Amino acid sequence: MINFLHNTAFSLAGIPLAIYTLVCLAAVPPILWLYRFATRQQPLRGVPIVTLDGQKPEEGWYAKPRELLIKGRKQYPDQPFQVLSYSGPKLVLPQRYLEEVRDSPNAAFAPYVVGDMPWNLPGFDGFLAMYKHQSLIPEVLRVKLTQSLGLITEGLAEEGIMVTEELFGKLAPGQWHNITLLAEATKIISRFTARTMLGEEMAHDPEYVNLTIRYAGVAFPAALQLRRWPRYLRPIVQYFTPLCQKARCEARTARKLITKEVERREKLARAAIAAGQKVSKTHDSVGWVLEQSKTDGKLDLVGFQLAIFTAGIHNTGGHLFTALWYIIAYPKYIQLLREEAISVLKEYGWTRQALGRLRLQDAVHRECLRILRSNLATARRQVVKGDLKFSDGFTIPKGRNFVVMPPADYQGENEPFYPERWIEKRAGEGQANKHAFVAANIENQEFGVGKHACPGRWFANDEMKIALCILLLRYEWKAPPGMQKPLFAACEDFPTFESTVQVQITPREPEIDLACPKI
Ligand code: HEM
Ligand SMILES: *[C@@H]1O[C@H](CO)[C@@H](O)[C@H](O)[C@H]1NC(C)=O
Ligand SMILES: *[C@@H]1O[C@H](CO)[C@@H](O)[C@H](O)[C@H]1NC(C)=O
Repeated sequence: MINFLHNTAFSLAGIPLAIYTLVCLAAVPPILWLYRFATRQQPLRGVPIVTLDGQKPEEGWYAKPRELLIKGRKQYPDQPFQVLSYSGPKLVLPQRYLEEVRDSPNAAFAPYVVGDMPWNLPGFDGFLAMYKHQSLIPEVLRVKLTQSLGLITEGLAEEGIMVTEELFGKLAPGQWHNITLLAEATKIISRFTARTMLGEEMAHDPEYVNLTIRYAGVAFPAALQLRRWPRYLRPIVQYFTPLCQKARCEARTARKLITKEVERREKLARAAIAAGQKVSKTHDSVGWVLEQSKTDGKLDLVGFQLAIFTAGIHNTGGHLFTALWYIIAYPKYIQLLREEAISVLKEYGWTRQALGRLRLQDAVHRECLRILRSNLATARRQVVKGDLKFSDGFTIPKGRNFVVMPPADYQGENEPFYPERWIEKRAGEGQANKHAFVAANIENQEFGVGKHACPGRWFANDEMKIALCILLLRYEWKAPPGMQKPLFAACEDFPTFESTVQVQITPREPEIDLACPKI
């Protein structure tokens, strides 16, 4: 090699090739740095920047977003401030702007979240689908999935009975067994999701269900990890990051596993559409997407499934975990919730009407939502059309990312676990819907607000309630001595669920026939 480089036959204009190469190589970093500097969004002038002491600003937002937001609020009460993230500055607005954000057509959710994701790299097909179909995916969920919920309650209950049998059926009665709560809760939710999106056969394919959990568990951390790198280096870095390699591998496996089933359903759905029939009643997401999209063929239907894995499994699993944890920690609710489930299911069977009547359970889920999402910003948005001008004159230019802080008196987990507060609030005249678990409004903003509020929340509501009824009626639950608290952590503005918390469980005889509870 050395000899080759020293060979004068390979010199250009008398300069040895080695030197020439070295000079060129040395020029690369400054050019890249200049490019990065020129293309990087600078903080907005006149808005203070908040950082954590002794930490790189971007790392503070990455690893300790809650602390950072709390500090910002203390330093600049009721004023906008900025945090610096690996993908540029983000404005943090005080709560008083929320109503105007809710009503502004100039601010969108998907570009904020997916714009920062490496959606253009292989393995992130779920993010690519979300990026390309920013309104289609929420619409399919809000319209098609939600309209079908009445038809799938019984199927979900059947699935819930089956999956709990598989997970806990072998546990000997009369003895307490340790289980890892978060992992088991997530498995239950993944089964509900698979069954609803692609039907029974896929839901009962253990390899597929396992993959639906793994994919988001890999793609999200991989995407977040890549943010630490400048955008122009990501296409290279991804080849050396084990998580990205895994994401590529999982996306390939997913494609292999579901393409056949998706194509089969696509054929059926297209035939139904061509014959002028409604396909949505077949409660199957491939049909929903095709019917809602009105486009022909450009859509990556496998990518859509991957998007659902990332948007709908881990957050819902984490919430079911949290609800169970609190019920076990405050065991008087076990009996109360059981009694409610028995009386409601006896009267209404597995119907949406029944789920709506589980008032205490609804309150428990909302209370957990309150605790879990405390001190996380809401209404994450990017200004997409023109500037966003508020009534007090404050203006956010197009292309800027911003979030809104929860109200200043929002206590989250510092306030005691007291689900009854929601029952009391709902008892007020005209207040029943406003404080339900699925509410998304200024007073209850954990699912976001306005047009971009979570479109999966009605489905999440049904999943959580069905799962909890079955889990409480079939099993007895107990906290092991010194049970750890769940860790409510976050990475940037994503709550992260990582928990090894174990709880104890033993089988019990349900008071009603869960397969057919209506009397
Ligand atoms: C308890 C579980 C869940 C929680 C706490 C939750 C929370 C949220 C939040 C906070 C947002 C952003 C709203 C905003 O910033 O204004 C959101 C958006 C979204 N969620 Fe959920 N979600 C849950 C379950 C689900 C499920 C089960 C699905 C799908 C089946 C889903 C799909 C989505 C989608 C697609 C969006 C983007 C909406 C848009 O771009 O307009 N979520 N969710
Ligand atoms: C379950 O965990 C507890 C500690 O939390 C331990 O004392 C007990 O022996 C475990 N039980 C079983 C059956 O493994
Ligand atoms: C998936 O399957 C593997 C091997 O069977 C298992 O080790 C892993 O825990 C499973 N993952 C999930 C999320 O169920």
